[in-house]
Amino acid sequence: MEWKNRDVISIRDFSREDIDFVLETAGRLERELAEKGALRYAEGKILATLFFEPSTRTRLSFESAMHRLGGSVIGFASAASTSVRKGESLRDTIKTVEQYSDVIVLRHPKEGAARLAAEVAEIPVINAGDGSNQHPTQTLLDLYTIKRVFGSIDGLKIGLLGDLKYGRTVHSLSEALAFYDVELYLISPEMLKMPKHIVEELREKGVRIHETSNLESVIGELDVLYATRIQRERFPDEQEYLKVKGSYVVDCRLLEKAKETLKVMHPLPRVDEIHPEVDGTKHALYFRQVFSGVPVRMALLGLTLGVL
Ligand code: NCD
Repeated sequence: MEWKNRDVISIRDFSREDIDFVLETAGRLERELAEKGALRYAEGKILATLFFEPSTRTRLSFESAMHRLGGSVIGFASAASTSVRKGESLRDTIKTVEQYSDVIVLRHPKEGAARLAAEVAEIPVINAGDGSNQHPTQTLLDLYTIKRVFGSIDGLKIGLLGDLKYGRTVHSLSEALAFYDVELYLISPEMLKMPKHIVEELREKGVRIHETSNLESVIGELDVLYATRIQRERFPDEQEYLKVKGSYVVDCRLLEKAKETLKVMHPLPRVDEIHPEVDGTKHALYFRQVFSGVPVRMALLGLTLGVL
């Protein structure tokens, strides 16, 4: 598959070979960066980061990745200071920004916004999260981190915990994990279960799935526990949020029941679902995920720009 000019919108657009190729490329860039310091593959290229929703890691790691590739960055971290405030459409915003840049990274509260942007733009568009739909670049860095630590993704028992209804990270991740030989534990409050169509699709693809709301009953089985934040901003009603707020807390007492080798992951930001006392333990993998963001996003930028 040709990578130059390709959009990165949904993990469903990729094959297992595509995913493995991105992870290999990221590994190569991570080694090269450690050897040489800065790289120059994207010299003269411009990345535009358009963030219509809050972000710390995704935006800054994309920007860092572009700088480390020798390219430069323009963009905004909030639409409040742009002509969107005057009523400009997403379509016109994208039509404008593509004249100033070579690749666009977009985060937007509406599902489907990244797909629309990709249809409008001639240059590649990378989805940095569209509503509760997809977050494919987070998934790639999650897989990269798992592969680094365990050597392989096949054979693992992976628990996805928390807001499986509105969490875009777990939607993308579970769909990608269907390419591998894994057993999935979907752990959530009844109200926040993984959408049925995703569960059915995963089962059709041969993934063994266990659904439960009881974390303690399955923690001992797991190799990876992927915790997520309850997505407060996606709830139509604050009262509903208050019912499930604080449903799970991963702390050292709970982890006594886990395998010695269990790794706890989280896309971050966390609210209260992982106690800070876990940070210093051998289980914590979430800051390693943060580190993986740069090489994985360097690979995606370099490949879609066609400069690697
Ligand atoms: C996630 C997101 O924006 O979906 N954050 C991230 O990109 N690492 C997770 C979240 O907001 O809960």
